[in-house]
Amino acid sequence: MNVKNYVRFEFQSLPENVAFARACVAAFAAQLDCTLDAIEEIKLVVSEAVSNSIIHGYGNRPNEKVVVAASIFDDRTLEIIVEDYGSGIKDVEKAIQPTFSSDPARMGLGFTFMKSFMDEMEILSKPGEGTSVRLKRSFFAKDKEAYA
Ligand SMILES: Nc1ncnc2c1ncn2[C@@H]1O[C@H](COP(=O)(O)OP(=O)(O)O)[C@@H](O)[C@H]1O
Ligand SMILES: [Mg+2]
Repeated sequence: MNVKNYVRFEFQSLPENVAFARACVAAFAAQLDCTLDAIEEIKLVVSEAVSNSIIHGYGNRPNEKVVVAASIFDDRTLEIIVEDYGSGIKDVEKAIQPTFSSDPARMGLGFTFMKSFMDEMEILSKPGEGTSVRLKRSFFAKDKEAYA
């Protein structure tokens, strides 16, 4: 499928940049003319993925790099990639289980939200090298009613 539009940006691993990344991807996704509900869901999944990079990937170290890329394909599919070069995930299968968290103070639902609001979720991760989360959602599948 052909890419219709593409953006890529990187930023410092600071908590204030979670809102920045969320707003950027939401503005980009708005080109799809999808529902406001869908935009809210996209904002949530971007927040979850970027927070994970900052909190887990980098252990809240503020001088590291997070990269976000988003693409819109000709078939109205949106792809979002969030990447860090941090700790990586030892056991991805375990990490994506609902309520699993390596930090007992956290809810462990970030991946569960990402998976449920998007059509596809792929996690590439290597301990010591980093993590890349690729999320895809098609805007004919879920918002059909909105266009009828
Ligand atoms: N980018 C990342 N780098 C390293 N570990 C991660 C990353 N994202 C997620 N994880 C691991 O996966 C677990 C589950 O993530 P998530 O479902 O978002 O729950 P929570 O953030 O509440 O712990 C985290 O507790 C962490 O151990
Ligand atoms: Mg999380």
